[in-house]
Amino acid sequence: MTATHDHDHEIADVLVVGSGIAGCAAALQAAREGAEVLLLTKATKPDGASTDWAQGGISTTRGEPESLKADIIAASDGTADPDAVDVLVENADDAVEDVLLETLEIEFDETDDGEFDYTREAAHSDYRILHVDAATGTHILRPFLNHIDAHDRIEVRQDTAALELITHEGRVHGVLSDEDPTGNPIFAGTTILATGGIGALYTRSTNPDDATGDGIAMAALAGADVADLEYVQFHPTAYDGADPFLLSEALRGEGAILRNGDGERFMDDYHSQGDLAPRDVVARAVETEREATGEVVLDVSTLEGAFAEEYPAIAEKCRDRGIDGDEIPVAPCEHFLCGGIDVDEHGRTSLDRLYAVGECSRTGVHGANRLASTSLLEGLVWGLRAGEDAAGLDADPEPVEAPDLRNSDPDLPERFAAEKSIRLKRTMDEYLGLERDPDEIARASAVLRRLKGEVDAYIRTRTARDLYELRNASVTALLIARAASENAESTGCHYVVEDSRDDSTAEQPADD
Ligand code: SIN
Repeated sequence: MTATHDHDHEIADVLVVGSGIAGCAAALQAAREGAEVLLLTKATKPDGASTDWAQGGISTTRGEPESLKADIIAASDGTADPDAVDVLVENADDAVEDVLLETLEIEFDETDDGEFDYTREAAHSDYRILHVDAATGTHILRPFLNHIDAHDRIEVRQDTAALELITHEGRVHGVLSDEDPTGNPIFAGTTILATGGIGALYTRSTNPDDATGDGIAMAALAGADVADLEYVQFHPTAYDGADPFLLSEALRGEGAILRNGDGERFMDDYHSQGDLAPRDVVARAVETEREATGEVVLDVSTLEGAFAEEYPAIAEKCRDRGIDGDEIPVAPCEHFLCGGIDVDEHGRTSLDRLYAVGECSRTGVHGANRLASTSLLEGLVWGLRAGEDAAGLDADPEPVEAPDLRNSDPDLPERFAAEKSIRLKRTMDEYLGLERDPDEIARASAVLRRLKGEVDAYIRTRTARDLYELRNASVTALLIARAASENAESTGCHYVVEDSRDDSTAEQPADD
């Protein structure tokens, strides 16, 4: 028993939206505190959450929080919030021990001596990352979902999207879900958004297609503060071809190297940490070398262990794409949003009774550029903290008047959402990618505003999940464009160039 019905109202003490590591951790901790928890997820399978796609691993501190803190701050170009980083590093090892080792009994890779086989990724000064080959997310998330699904006080409801937050007198009272065509109200004492990132705003991403920025858009539309949205992180090494996939930084951490189209190593020319430089630096260098020499490959022949044995999941993806040599073509690819819904050290947003955790939130830990293997950790630590805080509020769900969504025009033109989504992605690829030119950002904002206007016109008459996802994507894209236009300084993932092209020949993103 979890979500109950009070007269005609469906209610939960704590409502969690999203089923990655952050949502699972929030649900678990709220239930441990005695709350009745309902977790909604629009996913139908675990791989609807980015956590399931995470490869490299989850960082620990190995008892040296100051060392991890220094690496996080250095990777962020000095922009990470030191107080937020303290929360992360001081809680990291206990959270991993409690949830991943004791509760879920995850069997992280070990050495022949039975010690954890800690790995390293770019910009880490030490071997401190726990992993299960390079498919760590899957090995954490699936047991986690099974565990919370079996919990007496947690109900997991799949294939259910939250469309809008229900707000009343400055307070959040739950969500309207798409279980009913006019919006099914689910009232909650506290609501925790854990909806993940924004990969679906770009053509190439390492995220699932579900990553449409839902939580960020819903929260922003309800008036919550957002921050740091210009810091969209591109991973430097995704497969350079159709159906891209991630080639984990753990590969470079264990000896793989980047080579340009002339067969030369080049990262030492860009940064003192060479192939293990911070991610934003490597991503831009890879793009520069691709343009200059035609291609960049990740050479896995230099790995300390055997590629196919040590990284079977990645090796299988390579074989599926017909790559059987040691050189894998790579290009940067959208990977992670460092900013999001602004939250405090407990995941509280600026709206009463609304929390946000995981990639949709902005804790300040990542600043302008995230250090590898801190996203699962941040989701875990903040998920636990928000779950505890939200349950501790002991806020009774209060059914209030919830708006009825319209469903008067069920005849949405076929392919409307798919076509607009392609336009949105092209605009983001073209103008809000690795490099941003102020004139181009302005052009992107104009295209995105028009697109949002068209989507809003349909939303007034029709509830359909893909339409709401497109609304969320266009709201979030506009917020990213606005944040980018307001920040003239190149830092971390936000790299500003002036006059990157001659305006007279500038290509316009397809505008229908
Ligand atoms: C990777 O495995 O390279 C990605 C790890 C991360 O994004 O933290």
